[in-house]
Amino acid sequence: MTEALTILGLESSCDDTAAAVVSVVPGALAKILSNVVYGQTELHGAFGGVVPEIAARAHAEKIDVCVKDALEQSGHSLGRIDAISVTAGPGLIGGVLSGLMCAKGLSIGSGVPLVGVNHLAGHALTPRLTDNVSYPYLMLLVSGGHCQLLIVHGCDEFTRLGSTIDDAPGEAFDKVARLLGLSQPGGPSIELAAKGGDSTRFRLTRPLLDRPGCDMSFSGLKTAALRARDLVVKEKGGLSRQDRSDLCAGFQEAVKDVLAEKTRRALLEYLPLAGNTPVLAVAGGVASNQAIRTALETVSAEMGVKFVAPPLALCTDNAAMIAYAGAELFASGRQDDMRLSARPRWPLDQSSPSMLGSGKKGAKA
Ligand code: KG4
Ligand code: ZN
Repeated sequence: MTEALTILGLESSCDDTAAAVVSVVPGALAKILSNVVYGQTELHGAFGGVVPEIAARAHAEKIDVCVKDALEQSGHSLGRIDAISVTAGPGLIGGVLSGLMCAKGLSIGSGVPLVGVNHLAGHALTPRLTDNVSYPYLMLLVSGGHCQLLIVHGCDEFTRLGSTIDDAPGEAFDKVARLLGLSQPGGPSIELAAKGGDSTRFRLTRPLLDRPGCDMSFSGLKTAALRARDLVVKEKGGLSRQDRSDLCAGFQEAVKDVLAEKTRRALLEYLPLAGNTPVLAVAGGVASNQAIRTALETVSAEMGVKFVAPPLALCTDNAAMIAYAGAELFASGRQDDMRLSARPRWPLDQSSPSMLGSGKKGAKA
């Protein structure tokens, strides 16, 4: 990157409508001038998951308001923006279309260039936005919708070492919380309940740990938790507080073991390619789990790798990450026109076969 850029970013691929303005100056840490997020949690609350049609309508209603707020808060008018960066996939198609149509309208009306961004690239480049991490680094994305281990070589060059073949880990936390009668989102509820629990009482399966490679699976773990719950209910007629805590601790321990071991394997593949300061970065809501985070920090320390975890607001869905990824792409010569289309599936690593499976938050790749 040779010149300073001010980028407007739009994000609407799942259940957050977001817009942000980011200023990127070569050689310095990028500055987030505004970062507006309208969440939709209460709209989907009654349905136990994101309803695509409701999400699409809410994005269409809010995206222009969101852009206006982001520009106002940044102190910049559209005329002072160098490029408009928008999530073009992967995700729920109705939502992606809302953002894309808004960005196209703004671009054609103002003459400001348009850049389409892969949502996963937004997450994957966040450690550069927050910590100026140098390429190549290893990235673990773990949220309610994503689970991937990626080597990030450049803003448009990724090697996917592994991903989930079914549920994302956050999705498994949410489903297990539901079957134990705990509140949503399930991750924080399970983490809290696990504090008083004995993680050795229910020894749940560690899916795919017996197979080589970095692919993961979490849906069997959810079924194992269901069976363990049903056994206790059958024996005792119900679940005590301690039973619930022990189950939560056992489940959390299993997810932690899978993520730590698969990350260790990914680090072994990444290290020969890394420079002098190898980095493991994490993003996604699940990375806020203290037990999981500590396990990842331990693996990193054991292997002499720096551990980077951006602040939670930038680990979860936001538009600052889309603006930043757009800045890097734009600086490298990328520009889209009105033919830019919405892609429900869009794997970051085009050479790696697409993973099957689409969770409650849309397509995984
Ligand atoms: O990244 P995120 O906010 O949203 C997307 O999925 O896009 O991640 C939300 C997911 C939820 O499934 C939630 O249960 C999980 O992250 N999560 C956690 C914790 N906090 C949030 N999982 C485990 N432990 C936590 N402390
Ligand atoms: Zn995301």
